[in-house]
Amino acid sequence: MFKSAGLLVFALISLVTPGLSEKSTSHVAVLYSQCWHEFPLSTAILRTSRDGSSELVSKVSFIANPSQNQPPLDRLDNYAPWTHEPICTGVLQSLDSKLCVYTNATFSNGRGISIITTPRIADEFANLPIFRSANALDGINVFSGAWYTEKLPGKGVGMLARKQLKFKDRVTAYTPALVALLEDELKTMEREQLYRVAVNQLPEATRDAYMDLAYVYGEPKVRVQDIVKANTFQLHVGGQNHLAVFPETSRLNHACAPNAQYYLDPALLTHFVHATRPISIGEEITISYTSPLELTDSRQRHLQEGFHFTCSCPRCSAKATTDATLHKIGDLQTALNDWSATSTATPKLAEKLIQLYRTEGLDGFLDVPYGFAALAYNAVGDTTRAIKYAKLAKEAILLKDGPWTPNMQIWTELLKDPTQHWSFRRRK
Ligand SMILES: *[C@@H]1O[C@H](CO)[C@@H](O)[C@H](O)[C@H]1NC(C)=O
Repeated sequence: MFKSAGLLVFALISLVTPGLSEKSTSHVAVLYSQCWHEFPLSTAILRTSRDGSSELVSKVSFIANPSQNQPPLDRLDNYAPWTHEPICTGVLQSLDSKLCVYTNATFSNGRGISIITTPRIADEFANLPIFRSANALDGINVFSGAWYTEKLPGKGVGMLARKQLKFKDRVTAYTPALVALLEDELKTMEREQLYRVAVNQLPEATRDAYMDLAYVYGEPKVRVQDIVKANTFQLHVGGQNHLAVFPETSRLNHACAPNAQYYLDPALLTHFVHATRPISIGEEITISYTSPLELTDSRQRHLQEGFHFTCSCPRCSAKATTDATLHKIGDLQTALNDWSATSTATPKLAEKLIQLYRTEGLDGFLDVPYGFAALAYNAVGDTTRAIKYAKLAKEAILLKDGPWTPNMQIWTELLKDPTQHWSFRRRK
């Protein structure tokens, strides 16, 4: 299904009822704060242009293609690494730049990719090794053999384990079909026009996989944006948030005690998913769309606002128990973070914290309690256990944040020589 790192996305991609004038500002509403069931599309008229003017000056000015008569190979060279001439909007005030569609239709053995961004950021994308070296994407965009999809009762399509999976097993690793800079300036139909160019330029199989994805509103005139809304992950490139849609990965449903964890690798533009505990054949593979460490009401709000569903998994329905455990986790972490002379922190407290995470099904988030355990053991001079937990913390962070996270550094440092680490014998 879908997931986003932030709710911002949903506030900004808004839909307009076709046929109704954008002048009717009295009906302007921001959809994200509403439950969409109570707010059907027929009454949702969203956003006029930012200055409130009703001029329908299209920002999407399609450039006549000057090189139409030239041989196709010539054109390939002209726009490398793009296989199509970029199609651009006029200058958007909020970006001080135009937005263009950049497509490489032969990308990654013909999977293709379309990116809507500014020319400056397009250069940053173009300089990534994945557009330059043939083997930069080794092992990516290939079927892992770990999963299949199936229609699940009341859930839409889900992803299930095709074989027994264990901790750290790769589930998926895919690049997006569509990437689009997050802006709030284009009118909905203009944006739709631009997004459609991007999707239409993709190879047929990728385009079909995209158009097959779930959507929220169901209005065909804005289907390409509707699919982005339901399936987006955020990708930060060139200082700007981009929305990215990964067709295969979109089939992963949400769980508040997920059995898999994901991260986005910005250099490889790749979304990686790994199992965080054993998953049996035929069992659904899930990730969390919102932090499972948030209190239940807050998780419900995020899921409702961002993804338009009410969570009914055990950690959501047993709110009192779940929240009590989360408070206990919070208290333990506060105690373990206390490095004063009166601190009550002990390795035993850290072990208790690990246990709580495990029983809550938060296996994909164990880097935090493992880290506390490494420090707590080192603080009493038990370097053997400090090393053990620092290694576990590193392993867990890799699955959660990817190899480039600055948090890795903490544990790499401790592992170099625990006795030289600031935490060594701090509590004894
Ligand atoms: C498109 O991307 C691939 C990498 O998968 C690259 O090898 C190819 O040269 C790119 N196409 C163009 C026209 O640069």
